[in-house]
This record gives sequence, C-alpha cells and structure tokens, in this order.
Amino acid sequence: MDKILIRGGNPLTGSVRISGSKNAALPILFSSLLASGSSRYRRVPRLRDIDSTLGLLETLGVGVARNGPEVTLDTSGLERWEAPYDLVRKMRASVLVLGPLLARLGRARVSLPGGCAIGARPIDLHLKGMEALGAEIKLDHGYVTASAGRLRGAEFTFDRVTVTGTENVLMAAVLAEGRSVLRNAAREPEVTALAEVLNRMGARIRGAGTAEIVVEGVAGLHPVEAEIIPDRIETGTFLAAAAVTGGKVEIRDCEPRHVGAVIDKLRRAGAEIAVGERTISVCGPPRLKSVDVQTQPYPGFPTDMQAQFMALMSVADGVSVIAETIFENRFIHVSELSRMGADIVISGDTATVRGVRRLSGAPVMASDLRASACLVLAGLVAENTTLIHRVYHLDRGYEALEEKFSALGAEIRRVS
Ligand code: EPZ
Repeated sequence: MDKILIRGGNPLTGSVRISGSKNAALPILFSSLLASGSSRYRRVPRLRDIDSTLGLLETLGVGVARNGPEVTLDTSGLERWEAPYDLVRKMRASVLVLGPLLARLGRARVSLPGGCAIGARPIDLHLKGMEALGAEIKLDHGYVTASAGRLRGAEFTFDRVTVTGTENVLMAAVLAEGRSVLRNAAREPEVTALAEVLNRMGARIRGAGTAEIVVEGVAGLHPVEAEIIPDRIETGTFLAAAAVTGGKVEIRDCEPRHVGAVIDKLRRAGAEIAVGERTISVCGPPRLKSVDVQTQPYPGFPTDMQAQFMALMSVADGVSVIAETIFENRFIHVSELSRMGADIVISGDTATVRGVRRLSGAPVMASDLRASACLVLAGLVAENTTLIHRVYHLDRGYEALEEKFSALGAEIRRVS
C-alpha cells in the first residue's frame, strides 16, 4: 500500500499544467457506446477511475486502445449490456453505462453502486428519468435491469440537481423518439462538455449548462474525435495549495471560467489572483484570512473543493463557517485534520473552523478522493512530516500529483 510523505513549510513556486478532467472524461468515454465505430479522445487523464472505465467498456465488447493521453474506443463489437458488481463497486460512475446501453441496445443490467464514504449516493433520480423516457426498470439481487423498445422523448424534472443523473438521462434522451425537456438539470461544465461531444456525434441538444436542457431525439449517432476539458477541481486544488503555502504559482492550460467561485473565495481570503485566457497566476499572503463557505451546485462553490478549503481555513486568521449542502457525510477529513492540530467543531452540515498558527505533521488516513487532497494541502504547511496512508484514493482523481507538487518545490514523495 503506497503512502505519501510530505515535509511541510516550503512555499510553492513555478508553474503547473492541468490535466484533463476526470469528471468530464467519464461520461464522455461512456457516451462512445451511443455510436458504432471508432471514437478518439485526447487529453484523457491517467487515473485509476479512467482505468476502471476502460476496463468496464472492454467487458462490454468495446475495443480499447490507449496511447498516453489519447484513447481510441471501437464500439462496433459491442455485445454485452451488463456492468458487473465487482467493477461498479470500484467506481460508482459506472452507472453512466445505463443511459447509453438503454439507448443503443434497448436494455442494460447494472449493479447498484451502493454507498460510499461521503454518503448513500442513491441513483433513484437516474432511474426515474429513464422511466420517464419509457424504460421498464426492475431492481433485483443488487442489480438494476432496464429495458425498452425505442425510448420516447418526455418532459422530466429532477427532484434535486444531480450531475451524473443529468448526464445519464441526457445520454438516453439523444436517441429517444421525439423531444425531451430536462428541468432542474445540473449546470456543471462537465454536463456542457458532454452535450458538446454528443452534438458533434449528431445529437440535437440545446440549453446544456442551463437548468433546462431540450433534446430532439435522432435515429442514430456517429463516432467522434474530442478533447477533454481541463480539470476544474485539480485547478482549484493547486490554487489552494499556492495560496496556503504563501507561494507564487502559474497554473497553465486551465479554464478560469470554471473556477470562478473558488477564485472569489481565495481572493477574499487574501490571495492575489490574476486570470488570463488559459492561465491563472496566484500569489499567497503570509497568512490567509478566514472566510465562510457554503457548497452549492455549479456555479456555486463546488463540494469537491470543500475539504481542500477546510485545510486552508485550519491555519487562517479567524473563524470560518463551512456548510456542506450536497453530501450528508463529507466531513470525514475533519477528524484527520484535528489530529494535525486543527480546531474544528461540527454541528450537522456545518463545520466551524478556528484557525491555528500552525498544524503539526502526523500519520493520517485518506478516506476519499478529495479528503486525500485536503491532507496533502495540510501536510504542505504542517510542521515536520506528514505520512498519508491509503493514497490509492488520490490516484483515482489526481494525475501525477506528487510529481507536480515536487516540481513546485514541495518536499513530497511516495513511499511503499
Ligand atoms: C458528481 O457525482 C461528481 N462525480 C462528484 O465528484 C461530485 O462531488 C458530485 O457530482 C457533486 O458535484 C462525477 O461527476 C463522476 P450528484 P454525482 O448526483 O453525480 C443526491 C469527485 O470527487 N442524489 O450530483 O454522483 C446525492 O446523494 C466526485 O470527483 C440523489 O439523491 O453527484 C447527493 O447528495 C465525488 N439521487 C446529491 O444528490 C440521485 O439519483 C448530488 O449528487 C442522484 C443524486
């Protein structure tokens, strides 16, 4: 089991290039199932979750070829329609095969993902959306089986904003007969990126990126070539790292428009941030000021940056109130930060963080992807060394993280 060892205290300096977005790549790779033939994707990040996705596509009969950041998927041999439990349990986003398989083959059998560290994360809204399009849904033995003749377009309102729920139902709707209107849809950039790729495959989608998406169903789609957008959460993580270490970093090949809420909060906390077309330059103050944060669906402050921001507020000057409104159990990192000397009190969905002068390095345990990133940030500013266990969580969502941080001057290395 790999661990990551960090000696804190170095301000980060230099420049870092952002990788392709994990949460954009996952639905886009699954969308290849909607057409028969070879599609090619560039800037696909090298992550465990991408490996899981390509593994699942292979079990369905898809030809997978990978050359570094470039992936080619040949779906002409697609023959199976089942996503087995041992693959879905590794990556809950595997449920994104449901919409494409239902639309392309008229049936799909997918293991229910089960809960995860940050919450129950049901998929009831995914299934309600498929039913609205005419699918018959059955749940048995931990699997969901969906079947339909040709799906029919429908009007559907999501009870609450769901990113992969929107993506799943959107992928089913593009081949349905007639018009679909998806209301209270997620507005995340990853939804917009998926819709752009689908339209390039011949779909007819309007309104992606807004709360109301209109789809005119078409008879079929054709393969595509596409480039994955930059990862906004990786971008936010490096912004936070530069700000909290009092460093000066240029972030390249990113999309500043996708991290507006994070930039606002860091500026209010005292970081100086200059935004270019595809770059962001950040200069951290000697000590950040405490600011309050409430996570919200895009374009609000992203829940995937909540843990990282809490690490910053742990050493800020003042008291910060952080409210997590998206997931019911996304404060697992608090106990690990407290072991490093942070002063945090949880009450329901709110954490009150009283900044301390300095955290102290300690052996800590990563629990989920973004909690691991939080512990890396804490380690970068803590006294002495921090040893992070279970870093496979990090490898799910961050490409070459320790290499990127080392290149910025951090004392960080992987130890087995
Ligand atoms: C996506 O997860 C992201 N994952 C998550 O990133 C991110 O935290 C989340 O959106 C919120 O932004 C991918 O895109 C692969 P949701 P998703 O459906 O789609 C409830 C990371 O670290 N809900 O928007 O699974 C759900 O329980 C990951 O990269 C239902 O009740 O999240 C949650 O409380 C972590 N029923 C809320 O909605 C449903 O059918 C938002 O979940 C679906 C969701």
